[in-house]
Amino acid sequence: MARGKFITFEGIDGAGKTTHLEWFRQQLHTRAARAGGTVIMTREPGGTALGETLREILLHQPMALETEALLMFAARREHLAQVIEPALAQGDWVLSDRFTDATFAYQGGGRGLPRDKLETLERWVQGEFQPDLTVLFDLAPDTASARRSAAREPDRFERESERFFARTRAEYLRRAQEAPQRFALIDSSQDIALIRQQLEALLARL
Ligand code: TYD
Repeated sequence: MARGKFITFEGIDGAGKTTHLEWFRQQLHTRAARAGGTVIMTREPGGTALGETLREILLHQPMALETEALLMFAARREHLAQVIEPALAQGDWVLSDRFTDATFAYQGGGRGLPRDKLETLERWVQGEFQPDLTVLFDLAPDTASARRSAAREPDRFERESERFFARTRAEYLRRAQEAPQRFALIDSSQDIALIRQQLEALLARL
């Protein structure tokens, strides 16, 4: 049985990843089935019972910046051990709504935690392990904020300023530049139909 593939969706709040996730999961399902596996859809922070408890705390409770980063990585270690690693080992494909790039973007870029601290945690929690593909939905913070405001009650991150999201976006783009073979950059200001075409092209490469 071939090892499964790990795909992550990323982007600042309001950039549109949620719009495309369910559609992409269905497409992915067809490809995974052809390879003899199934698709597991998951998210961060979260993805396990403990991770979902940590998500509640992270999204709603004030805390020191370092605590926030450590809890993100604690939830991630659990997610890897309980869900991601076993699924890939048995040939299933995993699609995750956010992963480590979000910690670099939000806690690093947005909140200003030094990158070397995050790199240390990344290595500790996941070694050399990285997604096979990361789809980054890129959008200007003012457009993203306009798209967000229609939605429900904002959490601790969604309440942040446009300047925070400008820094978050910049760090996402820096991560993408650092690993161009892993990232696919999607311009989220385009029509949904056009974005789907681009996602289809990515699926064909998997
Ligand atoms: P999000 O995917 O936006 O959930 P929803 O669509 O339900 O709002 O994720 C929740 C928030 O968590 C989001 O604002 C980004 C933040 N986050 C971090 O700050 N660091 C991380 O490492 C992760 C995974 C998420």
